[in-house]
Amino acid sequence: MVNKKTQIIVIDNQKGGCAKTTTSMNVAVGLADKGYKICCLDFDMQNDLSKWLGYEQDRKPTIYDLISQEISDTEMFSIDVCIRQSPIYKNISFIPSNQMIKNIITIIATSNQPTTIFKNILDKDIFKQFDYIVIDCPNGFDLLVHNILLACDKLIIPVQADYISYEKVNLMLKTLMTIKNTEEIEKYIVGILVTLHNKSRNSHKETFSLIKQSYPNMVFDLPVPNHTEVADSVLNGKISILNKNSEAGASYRAVVEKIINH
Ligand SMILES: Nc1ncnc2c1ncn2[C@@H]1O[C@H](COP(=O)(O)OP(=O)(O)OP(=O)(O)O)[C@@H](O)[C@H]1O
Ligand SMILES: [Mg+2]
Repeated sequence: MVNKKTQIIVIDNQKGGCAKTTTSMNVAVGLADKGYKICCLDFDMQNDLSKWLGYEQDRKPTIYDLISQEISDTEMFSIDVCIRQSPIYKNISFIPSNQMIKNIITIIATSNQPTTIFKNILDKDIFKQFDYIVIDCPNGFDLLVHNILLACDKLIIPVQADYISYEKVNLMLKTLMTIKNTEEIEKYIVGILVTLHNKSRNSHKETFSLIKQSYPNMVFDLPVPNHTEVADSVLNGKISILNKNSEAGASYRAVVEKIINH
């Protein structure tokens, strides 16, 4: 495997329910299948991504504890204890979340480096063993998301084919410009991925065209179709990206190729 800097891939859209977690899962599994070493970071207190990777509740520290420890500047545990190996997928490790994550912003706000805490964590040597860190971003925008976007090398924006989601893309790009302090954000954008797409619906087709027109060269050609197979596949382990006959699999494989070549 090429020995290059660990790439931090963030899957984010400030709108909920646009397949962030599903995309994170497919991207992580697709990259791992190509032999890359992956660490997934789960910020959702439901822990869907971790559960799909085979997580069963344990007493070990979570992403919440990791951030809290960094802020307290006292070593209570070594970071490797937080990193679990997926019992299902080779090459995938992950750090789960817990219910406490909803309080993390209050703790981050007490830090004297409130926006770079997370980047400082990911810069540590232990994360250099991974080729890619895949981050399933929480909804909305707050100090935690600011931290995550500051650390981000590559952003994937999943978006549903409806007008409200379309409007959120602009907000997402503006947010990234502000955080990265540049208008030249192309190097960070892997692409805008239209998800939950129903090609028999005119409104979906129209919004997909509108998104492509508004953001030329940024939008993946193959939207992810709205098929129950996609939702079921993360639960039954027959994940779309590994299914050669899955239309959604083809969309997600194109995303993985773009990440590798970006
Ligand atoms: N291509 C698809 N076809 C059908 N169902 C899908 C598809 N992609 C995602 N889903 C389902 O849509 C729902 C939302 O997806 P997901 O949980 O990935 O979105 P999210 O952006 O992470 O949501 P949240 O904002 O709640 O974190 C889930 O029930 C998921 O199984
Ligand atoms: Mg989610």
